[in-house]
Amino acid sequence: VEITKFTETLPIPFPTAPPSTLTIARSSHSFHTNLGAGPTLAYGGLSILGPTIEVTRGTPVSINVFNNIVGDHPFLQAVDPELTGTLESDKTSPRVSVHLHGSNTEPQSDGYPMDTFRPGQNYLYNFNNNQEATTLWYHDHSMGITGLNVLAGLAGFYLIRDIDDPAGGNGPLGLPAGAPYEIPLVIQDRSFNTDGSVSHPNQPPWLIEYVVDVATVNGKAWPNLNVDRTLYRFRIINGSSARTYNLKLSSKQPIIQIGTDQGLLNAPVYLSSLLLSPGERADVLIDFSKSLSGEKIVLENDAISPYPSGRPKFFVFNPELPEIMQFTVNAGAAAPKPIPSVLRLHKPLIKPIAVEPVRQRFLTLVEISGPTGPIVLLLNYLYWDEGFKNPELMERPKVDTVEQWNIINLQPVAHPMHLHLVPFQILNRQKINASKYLKAYYAKGPRTVISEHATGGHQVPGSYPPPDPTPFAIGPARPPAPNEAGWKDTVLVNPYEVTRLIVPFGAQAAENLPFGNSFIGTYVWHCHMLGHEDNEMMLPFEIIA
Ligand code: C2O
Ligand code: CU
Repeated sequence: VEITKFTETLPIPFPTAPPSTLTIARSSHSFHTNLGAGPTLAYGGLSILGPTIEVTRGTPVSINVFNNIVGDHPFLQAVDPELTGTLESDKTSPRVSVHLHGSNTEPQSDGYPMDTFRPGQNYLYNFNNNQEATTLWYHDHSMGITGLNVLAGLAGFYLIRDIDDPAGGNGPLGLPAGAPYEIPLVIQDRSFNTDGSVSHPNQPPWLIEYVVDVATVNGKAWPNLNVDRTLYRFRIINGSSARTYNLKLSSKQPIIQIGTDQGLLNAPVYLSSLLLSPGERADVLIDFSKSLSGEKIVLENDAISPYPSGRPKFFVFNPELPEIMQFTVNAGAAAPKPIPSVLRLHKPLIKPIAVEPVRQRFLTLVEISGPTGPIVLLLNYLYWDEGFKNPELMERPKVDTVEQWNIINLQPVAHPMHLHLVPFQILNRQKINASKYLKAYYAKGPRTVISEHATGGHQVPGSYPPPDPTPFAIGPARPPAPNEAGWKDTVLVNPYEVTRLIVPFGAQAAENLPFGNSFIGTYVWHCHMLGHEDNEMMLPFEIIA
């Protein structure tokens, strides 16, 4: 079968009021007219993904989520019970857990990966929505099967509105909100079997990166959207398992970014390309008012995978994916709309946090390698449960303080790192001499790691915390790109660099924060490449009183 490009109509999940109950069920879905329907998982009775939930800042909602899955996991053959937390029974009665990504939520409602529930069970989530208007997304977060559950369809939009960006539009900025000119786009690469089901390799059991050959947007393969000759707003989520995109328009017109993961920027940023790694969101405007009637504009991608430089083809083949979807411009008069030049009318402008961090943490992204590549990717050379056994080995920030997290990538691949609960600012990025750094890391004392994932035992740096990379820096620290100079919850950490973040752990930590709560309790931080997250590239952290 040929999966023709731009022949499918883009489905649009326009916003709906928050439901009091939400079901998770097995369904079946066809991603393209030329493909049959294959098994999926979905929220709210849909065939794929979930409803776009729209809430207002400060108005809490409670959603009772029911696991109504009957039957096998759509990727039964790929469930790997060797992974921490994964069960043999996930093959036939999968666990679920709902994480509202980017939300400032109490720990028991955060979709903690161990807070899973089985078919026949339900879980009540309380979201207080006490944060700036932005694009959040809810998705599965079950320990060890997050990647399979999200690929099967468990992801949805969650839009927070506020006074600058009210529901229905007509706000002071004139931004489109809801139908017809604000359109959510979740981009996910998928591969298909000839019967139309989504294909996922069964061997080896743990797949390091699912990076494949077909772009799906809102659950259709390479769709087309007919657009009027006016200003559109797109809420883009990179909901892919592992692929980073560098998006651009074939018409060469700018993508105008107005918001980051966690809210509006100070001013629009005109981009010739938009880099978006898994988990990140971008709130963007595209002006079709100068486009010609009938013009076809392709949303393209020129990032290779794994980002930024690929990997030898003998190890994992990661096809390029140069086209994502198409816009076809309708006939009719142009209706130009002004693009606001100031975006934060009722909110303080975003400025660097003035408070001095109470502490610096040094955190490493590392791998334990076998003869053909990484066996496991870790944070700080630690497995998931080590911090529970030895309290010294867990990050324990104090509530309502500001910390600086220095994330040091000692790996040839960029990793999108996500902290639950707290928005952060990117302070800077800086290249380091990784081999000299590793020497210093080892010099503090090695240790042997033995686990079922790393057979035979591996000598790794045994010191905790890792050393400060600053003495090994190469060249100057670079400030974040203008479109990253807002509040973020997911950040791409480039190879052989330190990425420095300023993180307020609670609403009283500094002035002018974009959220209003302080919680104590256990959350997680992790890589948002789902194969990495599912196999130990995730650690708990605890906010303490
Ligand atoms: Cu979107 Cu912990 O994840
Ligand atoms: Cu990763």
